[in-house]
Amino acid sequence: MPHRILLVPYPVQGHINPAFEFAKRLITLGAHVTISTTVHMHNRITNKPTLPNLSYYPFSDGYDDGFKGTGSDAYLEYHAEFQRRGSEFVSDIILKNSQEGTPFTCLVHSLLLQWAAEAAREFHLPTALLWVQPATVFDILYYYFHGFSDSIKNPSSSIELPGLPLLFSSRDLPSFLLASCPDAYSLMTSFFEEQFNELDVETNLTKTILVNSFESLEPKALRAVKKFNMISIGPLIPSEHLDEKDSTEDNSYGGQTHIFQPSNDCVEWLDSKPKSSVVYVSFGSYFVLSERQREEIAHALLDCGFPFLWVLREKEGENNEEGFKYREELEEKGKIVKWCSQMEILSHPSLGCFLTHCGWNSTLESLVKGVPMVAFPQWTDQMTNAKLIEDVWKIGVRVDEEVNEDGIVRGDEIRRCLEVVMGSGEKGEELRRSGKKWKELAREAVKEGGSSEKNLRSFLDGVVG
Ligand code: UDX
Repeated sequence: MPHRILLVPYPVQGHINPAFEFAKRLITLGAHVTISTTVHMHNRITNKPTLPNLSYYPFSDGYDDGFKGTGSDAYLEYHAEFQRRGSEFVSDIILKNSQEGTPFTCLVHSLLLQWAAEAAREFHLPTALLWVQPATVFDILYYYFHGFSDSIKNPSSSIELPGLPLLFSSRDLPSFLLASCPDAYSLMTSFFEEQFNELDVETNLTKTILVNSFESLEPKALRAVKKFNMISIGPLIPSEHLDEKDSTEDNSYGGQTHIFQPSNDCVEWLDSKPKSSVVYVSFGSYFVLSERQREEIAHALLDCGFPFLWVLREKEGENNEEGFKYREELEEKGKIVKWCSQMEILSHPSLGCFLTHCGWNSTLESLVKGVPMVAFPQWTDQMTNAKLIEDVWKIGVRVDEEVNEDGIVRGDEIRRCLEVVMGSGEKGEELRRSGKKWKELAREAVKEGGSSEKNLRSFLDGVVG
């Protein structure tokens, strides 16, 4: 009997991308996978892979045209409906597959979908959590919910916790844990608390945490919580980008999935630029910069003079095509797009640096391609990722958020970081050397016999027992 995995990712790009890659790897090892996400998200993914043994079974969260509400109350309402309908769906599909003689052997869900695990438990179906952030963030949250919340919240002291590679300060923690964070963000704390409560349930069958990371990247963090079987199976990056030789995306296999239409002339533009000369700017799929912060970034880019490719996202319904003050000037020196095929960009030889919000996927993608970063975290795990990028993996420089005016980081500070990373000084050289090292280590982890590949095999062996 083949392994049959039901995979339920949270319906955001940052969870969908690693989940799809995870599915492809399971299938390579002989498993059958069913991916179930919301109808809205399912329809938005433009390039879903079509593979034997991969099926899709979307479900309605009640918002098939997308959730458009704003504010905590609206979000809570959405979350409750998503959970209610999602739980029902998971129960139904587990039952249906059993009755049809093709029972699932395991349910894997990404974080904040603990209700999927609860539903599976009713059928005694083993479950595993796909952790799409670094192991270090798992540890911080685990200890936060297990007796360390006061010491973590106190911003005056250095933070020392099992799994941390060095002392952290409050600016290095997931932003929503801090007492000073806005209400809307503290909602995240309660969602994560629900997630960790579910992991704590005595009869819980979720013992495995599949971490999108790799052994040499977080050796200590992967062992800091003994209660669970935390195993690294990453980096979950399309495998064509992890081959010995860099290659462009093979779309028959699905490549990188997108929920926005990527601009198709970026590579041609990059081809016209000298080697290692371009700054790539992106803040991921979710976060939208304020207008003032965009202007400060524009200043930095114009002042330092490097060619740049900027993925400039706007709030839905907002149109700054005309309105953005520096647009014309920016377009003379660089290229602005609404979305691109990020892996293709990071693979291009003319790329010199990535100015990033440090979302975990972007961080791993940059590591895998050996591209040095200017880390400009905005919220959640991005603060922790930025700390690791700068002080542990030494592949980037973090902007000093203190150099701000009303919370807006000044262009001069962003420019300073860009010049260090792009420059030929000792620091720039160190970052590029680290880039080469991490690129190599990431590939070793996923190749046959590498730590992540072995872990994934042992996970599958364990599931069938
Ligand atoms: C979210 C959270 O914000 C992040 O902190 C968490 O670690 C994961 O979930 P997001 O903000 O979207 O993710 O950032 P990130 O994790 O970097 O994921 C964005 C994905 O979109 C990446 O895989 C990136 O390659 C892709 N992308 C981004 C594109 O393909 N094109 C673009 O133009 C921009």
